[in-house]
Amino acid sequence: MTKETLIIGQTLAFDGDPFQDGIGVAQHNARGGVLIEAGLITATGTADDLRRAHPEATVTDYGDALILPGFVDAHAHFPQTAMIASWGKRLIDWLNGYTFPEEMRFEDPAYAAEIAKTYFDLTLSNGTTTTTSFCTIHPESVDAYFAEAQSRGLRAIAGKTCMDRNAPDGLTDTAQSAYDDSKRLLMKWHGQDRLIYAITPRFSPTSTREQLTALGSLWAEHPDCPMQTHLSEQSEEIAWVHDLFPEARDYLDTYETAGLIGPGALFGHAIHLTDRERARLKETDASLIHCPTSNTFIGSGLFDMDGLMRDGHTIGLATDTGGGSSFSMLRTMAAAYEVAQLRGRALHPAELMWLATAGSAKALRLQDKIGTLAPGFEADLVVLDLASTPAIAQRAQRAKTIWEAVFPTIMMGDDRAIRDVRICGRSIAG
Ligand code: GUN
Ligand code: ZN
Repeated sequence: MTKETLIIGQTLAFDGDPFQDGIGVAQHNARGGVLIEAGLITATGTADDLRRAHPEATVTDYGDALILPGFVDAHAHFPQTAMIASWGKRLIDWLNGYTFPEEMRFEDPAYAAEIAKTYFDLTLSNGTTTTTSFCTIHPESVDAYFAEAQSRGLRAIAGKTCMDRNAPDGLTDTAQSAYDDSKRLLMKWHGQDRLIYAITPRFSPTSTREQLTALGSLWAEHPDCPMQTHLSEQSEEIAWVHDLFPEARDYLDTYETAGLIGPGALFGHAIHLTDRERARLKETDASLIHCPTSNTFIGSGLFDMDGLMRDGHTIGLATDTGGGSSFSMLRTMAAAYEVAQLRGRALHPAELMWLATAGSAKALRLQDKIGTLAPGFEADLVVLDLASTPAIAQRAQRAKTIWEAVFPTIMMGDDRAIRDVRICGRSIAG
């Protein structure tokens, strides 16, 4: 028999989706436990019951700290790690002025490997156990990301970013080479250990119709892979799409007519949607990925979380580093709260925590594997210190409920709140 590990602390689990079923689906246990064996959660319950039933288990007691599923970031750009927080531009100028010059550097495998290492150091120290990333057009960048994730035992998603126009020389492929390189990388990495390949056209302005269609064919051959791209992030971008694709009914149509819509499609941003786009995204079971720190940082707009959730859309939460201004999913939850407030809806801490864990997992079609504290799920966990700074501690001290205790950490917390992270049950602190 393999060895059992029992971790003890406060626990927070969700029996369902708090947006659809109400916050009563959240189960808080002030003295709970999570039993882990062979990388999986095998039992949850009260600490006392689990201790009694599993006297041989190795026990780690985290005291008052809160044990949660690790955070799941549903959209990021690991190659933008070193240029996060670049000042003063809107999307198109930001891409041309900051992003593309940095992405050019990933032709060098040593540089790609160095940034991949830094990226996973940062995401793990922020409690994020699954990341979903765009790479660059260079296959080397995909190899660097997956090799680093694999060496750390992570469940991770990524793909080669494809662009065959409107990008600098040295940062473009072609329709054929994008298909060939993506297919080769997919065969190499998809399903290796915990890794998942995502077919990745950057966005319609940087792909010809021919390239979008080639990637649509590749997706049809591998429908179990996700397909990630950007949709309706900023007004100038949408106007540009209309110029580039005059025959298209709307932005989404440029993907739809290329076979790039359906279950497993991950549309980053999705802020300025038409009624037709909203209806089609819902009908086709696509996922929308909300990137709130990016949307305020680049000045893109206010995502309609309340309306889209009411309409039954599948929505994940993401940092979008480095258009997003933080590696922290706590900071990202805070921004989601602020953006929703600006649209007249106060998201409950249960909704925010769910979005950052099970919600993102569902958007990635991984809801049976990660993001939930229940038997059978992979034991990727984060342990939060709910009094990690003097400001948070003095506020949390007054809390009368778990939500009042958690909300200051959501709004003011950062990597200092991350007491521990476990990947398949093993603490990364060693
Ligand atoms: N649209 C196309 N590429 C990008 C990117 O790298 N970041 C963001 N935020 N939007 C994009
Ligand atoms: Zn993005």
